[in-house]
Parts: sequence; C-alpha cells; structure tokens
Amino acid sequence: MNSDKIRQQYSDFFKQRGHAEIPNVPLLPENDPTLLFVNSGMFPLVPYLLGETHPQGKRLCNFQKSIRVQDIEEVGDDRHTTFFEMMGNWSLGDYFKAEQLPWFMELYHEVFGLDINRLFVSVFEGDADSPRDEESIGIWQDIFAKYGIKAKVAEKLGDMAKNFDPQGNWIDPTNSIRIFPMSKKENWWQRGSTPGEVGGPDSEMFYDFGPGTERFADPHYEKWNDTGRFLEIGNSVFLQYQLDDQLKWQQLTQKNVDFGGGFERVLAAIEHKPDIFQTELFQPLIQRIEVLTGTKYEGNKPSYQVICDHLRAATFIMADGVLPSNKDQGYILRRLIRRAIRHGRLLGLFDYFTHNIANTIIEEYKTAYPHLDIGKTKEKIKWELNVEEEKFVKTVDRGVREISKAIESGEPIDGAKAFYFFETYGFPLEQTVEELKNAGRQLDESTFKQEFSAAQTAHQDQSRAGAEQKFKGGLGGHTDQHVRYHTATHLLNAALKKVLGDHVHQKGSNITPERLRFDFSHPDKMTDEQKQQVEKMINDVITADLQVSCEDMTVDEAKTAGAEGVFDDRYAEKVKVYTVQNPQTGEIFSKEICGGPHVSHTGELNGTFRIKKEESSSAGVRRIKAVLT
Ligand code: ALA
Repeated sequence: MNSDKIRQQYSDFFKQRGHAEIPNVPLLPENDPTLLFVNSGMFPLVPYLLGETHPQGKRLCNFQKSIRVQDIEEVGDDRHTTFFEMMGNWSLGDYFKAEQLPWFMELYHEVFGLDINRLFVSVFEGDADSPRDEESIGIWQDIFAKYGIKAKVAEKLGDMAKNFDPQGNWIDPTNSIRIFPMSKKENWWQRGSTPGEVGGPDSEMFYDFGPGTERFADPHYEKWNDTGRFLEIGNSVFLQYQLDDQLKWQQLTQKNVDFGGGFERVLAAIEHKPDIFQTELFQPLIQRIEVLTGTKYEGNKPSYQVICDHLRAATFIMADGVLPSNKDQGYILRRLIRRAIRHGRLLGLFDYFTHNIANTIIEEYKTAYPHLDIGKTKEKIKWELNVEEEKFVKTVDRGVREISKAIESGEPIDGAKAFYFFETYGFPLEQTVEELKNAGRQLDESTFKQEFSAAQTAHQDQSRAGAEQKFKGGLGGHTDQHVRYHTATHLLNAALKKVLGDHVHQKGSNITPERLRFDFSHPDKMTDEQKQQVEKMINDVITADLQVSCEDMTVDEAKTAGAEGVFDDRYAEKVKVYTVQNPQTGEIFSKEICGGPHVSHTGELNGTFRIKKEESSSAGVRRIKAVLT
C-alpha cells in the first residue's frame, strides 16, 4: 500500500533529522472548551510552543487524526472531508525557515517523488502585524534553483496565467513564476482568536494536476487557487506571535515551526488523482458500497463521498468513546451518521449498512490505529451504528406518516416542504416526488427541485453560521478589523429588526478584512429610505459609544432573556450572550448568542457604517454587504 509506505517514509525522514515521534491524541480535546474535536496536530502542543519544555525534546513529529466539522456541508465533492490525517512536524524554538522549507521540498519531491515541475508555493505578503516574508521567498528561490528551476515571484495571483500557453500547459517550467505572496486570509494561520492564542505567517505548497482538471472555469487563472486544478498539500506555519489582551499580535520569545500536511491530499498528489476519493485509501470503501448497492461510484459521486467520509469520521469518533446524542460531539456524530444513511437511501440502500462500512474502515485502519480494534471496540461501534440506524428508520417511518397525512389533508407540498421532510425525517426528495405522483398530484419536477435546492442552501448557510458560533469564533482570521466587523454585524442584525420587523433573522454571515456580508430573512427589496434608517441607527450607536458586554448562560436563559439566536439543538449547553447597551439608561440595542470576540465599546468601530449593496440571496433571503469607512 502506498499509504503504509508514506507513513513510514514520513516518520523515518523526521527521525533521521532528530525528531521524536509523539503519540496521536484522542479526537476529543482535553481541557479545551473552545473546541469539539482536535482539528490539527499542533493542538496538544500549545504549552510547548509558548516555552514549556516538552519531555521528548524540541523536534517532534507525528500523524494526527483530526476532524473539521465546519466542512460538513461541503463534503460531497472531490476533496472535502471532515475527518483527515495530518502529518505534522514541529520545532519548539529550535530550527526555523532555513531548515523547514528545504526539508519540506526534499520530503515531497525526493522522498515522495512528486514532480518538481508541478509544485509551487505561497508566502505571506505582509501587513501591519507582520512584514512580507522575504526570508521565505529567498529560501524558496534557492530551493527551486537547486532543482534547476528559476523561480520568479508573482506580483499578483493572476500572474499564474503567464506560466501557461492558451491550452494551460507550462510554457517553460524551468523559468516560471512559482512563488505567490498572498494575503492574511490565505497565508496566516492561527489556532483561535481569544487572548493568548498563537499564530503566524505561513508558506503553503501546491500541486498542479495539469490542464483539463479544472472544476471551476477561470480561464485567466485570476484566482487559480479556486479553480480545482491545484491542490494545497502542505503548510509550514512560522508560529512566532501570540494575541495579547487587546487582541494585538505580540512576538513570542520562542520562534516555532508548525507543519501540517493533509495525508489524503498528499496521497492524491502522489497518485496524481484530482479526486482524493479515487486514491487507494478510499478504494476498499467504495468497492464495498458498490457491492452493497449494485451502483457505481461514477455517476453517484456525492453520495459515495458523503458515506465514505462521514462513516470514517463516525467510526473514529466512536472509537474515542462518543455515542450519538443531541449534544456537542454526540450531536455531530449523529448528524454524520444520519447524513450517511440518507445518502445510502439515495443509492437505494434500505437495509442497515453503516456497520458494514465501519467494519471495512476498521480493517483498513487498524494497523495504523490499533485502538480501533482493541477488545470489543469494533463490535461496540458496529452495535451502536445499528442502534442509531434503527432510530433513524423510526424517524423516517414517522416521516412517511407525516407525508401521507399532509397529502390526505390536501395541504400544498412544494419543494421547500420536501426539504423539510428530508431534513427532519431523512425522507429523500425522489421519494416525496413519487408519493405525490402516486397520490395523483400534479407537479413540475424542475421547479420542485429548484425549491428544494433553495431551501437546502438557506439551511446550509444557517448551519455554517451555527458551526462558527459553536466553535466560538475559534477558527479563521481574527484581526482587529475582523472583530470590528463582527460587532457591526450584530448592530446590523438589530437595526434591521427595528426598521423592517421581527421577522428578520440571520441566515448567514461572512467577514473579510474589507467588508461584512449578512444574509437575513426578509421578503422584499429594501427601499433607499430603509437603508438610510439602518445606517443612521448604527452610526448613532457608534457615536454614542455604547458598552458591549458578555455573559455565559444556558440556552434557556438566553431564550428567556430575549437573545437573538437560532434555537435548535446546535448550541452547546452553555452559550455566550453579547449585549450592546447604554450603561446610563440601561437601554439595550442588541442581544445575541455568539462566540465572539467583540469590541468592548461601539466607539471602537472607529468609522462610519455604510451599506454598499442590498440584493436577493435566495427565496425570502436578502443579502447586505457593508463597510466601515
Ligand atoms: N496547524 C497548521 C494547519 O493546520 C499546520 O494548517
């Protein structure tokens, strides 16, 4: 197996360079309430990155199982997974860029055998927190030169196009643009966003699958990293900063390296397969599903991908002691299993099947992860999967009854309602269509499907917002500007409610250093007058410099206190509630469940709030883009 060989090569490579292999930690983080699952290899290492002495020394490496739940809805394409293995190596105040980057290339090119002509890199372009990474640029140029390539530095992302002829082939690989300085969004890694968190600029390596492998059209490679032709296969983070109490980055006394390479992705590059599910890792699973369903992977990719990924994640989560439930990790586990079952149904699989796939997963992984097959673990996992599947079947049965009732009562059923049946009872769209047809209802299938998709998109945006909250804003970029936009988003949510009415609820939110984006439920286009009212209301709050405070409470308490939030079982038991209030009069402008962080006074927003755009996002949902200038 390639995968066994790579595991060995990886650990040999770093051991030969003085590294000690550290054990894989369980997926459930210890003593870390900010996180549901370990999501990278550096998690258990934070105290040592800050200067504590590690018992195994200053050079460490391992393979760490990881889960990133925020990607759950993305699974169903060629490269997203919730579960993955991360190859990691660390320098705890020992070596730095001059050793790390050459090793990175030596390992990937000389040991793993990746074609150097297909490799290129990104570095941090610099900002107020940290300068442009000239040192890494110089080191990368020397590295490429060693392998006969004159590597030029891009001025902008779109310079990638200069490397290619009109067919997308490299014009001259030996003299080409290989080093791309990129912004904080791409080339800065940080663990979280609360005081004390560590972070720093990073340098990533990409693999080029070649022309014809693009999944998204971008003929000029303006944003080549989104086309699907290129895959990020490793990230060297230069962890040298820590967030202080004002959320400003301060130099750490010790300069660390934190490297993470997604094993599945590296394998995809080694096997030159743009679809990671076609690598040998997933073959036993795909073959099993093919046998069980009598269908083929080709033509049914999304369902196969969801089943493979979700049941692999579920198996590993259960092996670490979690059972399906309606809370925290157990809730995520339940979602993973149910999504897998639903996709099984789409493939015509109505027998209990999840235990069968789990069996294959355990057989495949037990050499690398012996804990999957210790004592009765395997039997217990399979048993619990059956129990969960049985519960699911009961839920679907309830769904059948509910649909029949709705049909009999003559209630109109559109695609959005079909999505409700799907989400609540796991009832596949096709089956609802069939039930309706059997009952003699007329329906236009394409409109019906469009309505279904629109409802699904709105739901995904919402659960993404939920996942962010659950993670307490612990991932992604959190500069001062990010924090300001975050607070501005709360003000906007509250102002829209006051101007448009109580039907306004958040349907999605996204922040970049340049703007905020906010989706909310509202049927009509906003008038100019309404927009001005909202702007004025927010700007008045900024001028009045209201206090922003935060309290921990239970979900029920938050509800009673009238906090804005999505009240389903997505929240952890205790939540944070942020209130924007006039301390003199006690008048509350906004109260919202949120992970933070936020400014402590609205005056810190330090600018004028302006709506740049108001447009439709999906049926019944409007989208605002706004800035602080
Ligand atoms: N911790 C870094 C990452 O996850 C390596 O990308």
